[in-house]
Amino acid sequence: MSSSVATPPLQPEELSPATALAGALVDACAGAVRAPRASIENCVVALLSGGHVMIEDVPGVGKTVLGKSLARAAGCAFSRLQCTADLLPADVTGVTVWDQNAAAFLFRPGPVFANVILVDEINRASPKTQSALLECMEEGQVTVDGETRVLPQPFMIIATQNPVEYEGTFPLPEAQLDRFAVRVAIGYPAPEDEAGMLLDLAGHDALEGVVAVTDEAGVMAARRVVERVHADPSLAHYVVGLVGATRRDPRAELGASPRAGLALLRAAKARAVVHGRRYVEPEDIRALAHPVLGHRMILTPDARARGALSGEVVADALAAVPVPL
Ligand SMILES: Nc1ncnc2c1ncn2[C@@H]1O[C@H](COP(=O)(O)OP(=O)(O)OP(=O)(O)O)[C@@H](O)[C@H]1O
Ligand SMILES: [Mg+2]
Repeated sequence: MSSSVATPPLQPEELSPATALAGALVDACAGAVRAPRASIENCVVALLSGGHVMIEDVPGVGKTVLGKSLARAAGCAFSRLQCTADLLPADVTGVTVWDQNAAAFLFRPGPVFANVILVDEINRASPKTQSALLECMEEGQVTVDGETRVLPQPFMIIATQNPVEYEGTFPLPEAQLDRFAVRVAIGYPAPEDEAGMLLDLAGHDALEGVVAVTDEAGVMAARRVVERVHADPSLAHYVVGLVGATRRDPRAELGASPRAGLALLRAAKARAVVHGRRYVEPEDIRALAHPVLGHRMILTPDARARGALSGEVVADALAAVPVPL
């Protein structure tokens, strides 16, 4: 039974400003960080689909630079959290303090009251602080001293982390990783790119050239366009087929959740906008399957011991499920 409310089809003149904005965001980041275009694009897809992004890679490949350049290009109120083991939940959400002049308790908002929040090295924060953050991500609100406060919109977390086997880190539980719409990696640049970077950066900061290409209202307008992108019912079935295949895979203890499927279709709509289309194509879903599903599965201990990777489960699902025409 269909319960969708009839919205008028998206017109080309409504699509083009959103596509132009997406292109400007990608270009702004690409000017600062040497990263595969698809990785940058996936960060923009998360921003435009109302999701959060996890940038996960080894040290020194430009994770922080990518996060900061996206935040700066988006032109929204920005804050940054540098995570350490002693960062407290109140350092994230804010505190109520006694104001002598007002003779009252006043709420002093924490860094989470911004539009784009760079949470650097999230796996260095204690589990308690991580869970305070993840509550904000899931619910778009904060409860401090029994009072609930709604966070501003847009609200996006850009988290970075190194792969987990480092001292003094608290790996995020898979259930919490599920809150991130996409996970992106950067990888090492090609040798000629890396040499170019050394020459470019000798003496100045990679972020210097990044300027805001939009603002809060611009991001929200583009999100509304993304929501109206057409997805044929066959594509919803395709997504269900893919997540279902991950659940049946013997290597997976826990396959991709319905939330993962929802995130995949939503991200596919944003990718369609990035590529200047008013409708989702199977390729949007295929291109996003790894970044959207890869971090949301738990492999069996046996599969892990044999060195299996969740990426293989996703790849096999892509190979097994017939692509709709
Ligand atoms: N791909 C890249 N493009 C542009 N600059 C880069 C890139 N990789 C590294 N750099 C430069 O190297 C320095 C380190 O980058 P950055 O701080 O972003 O790394 P990181 O991945 O966040 O590392 P860590 O995991 O240690 O936090 C920065 O000064 C940045 O200018
Ligand atoms: Mg960093």
